[in-house]
Amino acid sequence: MSVLITGVGELTTNDDELGQLSDAALVLDGDRVAWVGPAAQAPDADERVDVAGRAVLPGWVDSHTHLVFAGDRTEEFGARMAGQPYQAGGIAVTVNATRAATDAELEDVLRRHVAEAVAQGTTYVETKTGYGLTVADELRSARLAARHADEVTFLGAHLVPQGWDADDYVALVCGEMLDAVAPHVGWADVFCETGAFDADQSRAVLVAAKERGLGLRVHGNQLGEGPGVRLAVELGAASVDHCTYLSGADVEALAGSDTVATLLPACDLSTRQSLPDARALLDAGATIALASNCNPGSSYTSSMAFCVATAVLQLRLSVAEAVRAATWGGARALRRETGDGAVGVLRPGSRADVHVLNAPSVTHLAYRPGVPLTHAVWRAGRRVVGGWPAGS
Ligand code: NIG
Repeated sequence: MSVLITGVGELTTNDDELGQLSDAALVLDGDRVAWVGPAAQAPDADERVDVAGRAVLPGWVDSHTHLVFAGDRTEEFGARMAGQPYQAGGIAVTVNATRAATDAELEDVLRRHVAEAVAQGTTYVETKTGYGLTVADELRSARLAARHADEVTFLGAHLVPQGWDADDYVALVCGEMLDAVAPHVGWADVFCETGAFDADQSRAVLVAAKERGLGLRVHGNQLGEGPGVRLAVELGAASVDHCTYLSGADVEALAGSDTVATLLPACDLSTRQSLPDARALLDAGATIALASNCNPGSSYTSSMAFCVATAVLQLRLSVAEAVRAATWGGARALRRETGDGAVGVLRPGSRADVHVLNAPSVTHLAYRPGVPLTHAVWRAGRRVVGGWPAGS
C-alpha cells in the first residue's frame, strides 16, 4: 500500500542533497519512504493525502527516556520548586515503587507514555531500565521495555541500591546482571556523577558492557563538571547525555569525537539547573541531539516540541538547528541515521516516519511555544495520528 503526501508547503528532509523543499511531495510504500521531490513530479500512489501547505518533517527521535517506572514524585517536584536541590537519591523512591509493581502495571505505564509521545510527533523512542537494580528487576524491565520502545538501554548502574556497598554493586552489574540483561538490550549506560558512580566504577561498567557487544551511552555532567564526557569520548560512546556543565576541554573533546552531546533542556528546567551551552558545542563542531529525558523524577515530559522551543528560545539555537537535533541528532545518537530504514531523515529508503505540523513552517514550533501543532503522524508507514478521511 503506497501513500502520496502532497501539498507540502515546507519539507524538512535532513538529507544533505535534498535539503529543505517547498511545494513538495513524498511517497510512502509500506514502512519505507519511496520517493521525495517537487509535487509537480510526484508519481502515483494507492492513496493521496493533500496536507494543504502544511510543514512536514521527520518524526521526532527521542533518544533518551526512562519509561519503565511506577509511582509518582509530585512531592519531590514541589519541594524543588520551593528551593530544594535535585539529588540523585530521589531515584530510590521510583526504584521502590517499580519493584513493587506488577508486569501489567509497568507495561501500562510504558504503553501510555509511548502513546503520549507518538501523539505529539515522536516516531522513534529509546528507553532505559534503571529503576529495578536487582538482576531480576533489571531483566524484567529490559524485557518489558523491548515490547514498547524501538531501542532499549541497560542502566543497572543508575544508583547504588540501599544497603549495598558501591564496589560490590558494580561487580554485580558487571557480571551476573549484564549476563542476564545483555541479550535483551542494544545499549548500556552509567550515571557517572557525584552521588551515583565515580569514574573508575563507570569505566568498569562500560568496559564490561562493551565486551558483551553493547553500544555505550553515558549520563554525564548533569549536576556539575565531572569525568562523564571524558570517559564517554575515551571509550567511544555513541552519546553522552545531559552535558549541562562542560569545561572548555569537554567541549573540545566532544568536537573532536563521534560522541553525540545529547542535551535535555526540559530536565535542566525541571531541576532548576543551569542550561547547557549548546552554542559553544555547535560552534566548536560537536554533534548535538535534543531529547525529552521523560522520567518521573527529573523531567516528566514527553514533549519534544517543548524541547525544541526551549532550545531556540533559551539555548540560542536556530529553529533549523533545534529541529535537526531533535530528529537527525537523536538518530545519530542511536547510530540509526544512515542506511536502509534510517530514522530522523526523509529520503528514499528511510523509515516512513512522517510528522505533519498544523503550521506552514517549522519556525512555528518556537514562534508558538506550548501550542499542540501535531496534525498527522505516520510511524513506520502506519498512520497513527490524524485518522480523518484520505484527501483532507
Ligand atoms: O536522566 N540522571 C539520572 N537519571 C535520570 C533521573 C532519574 C530520576 O530522577 O528518577 C535523568 O535525569
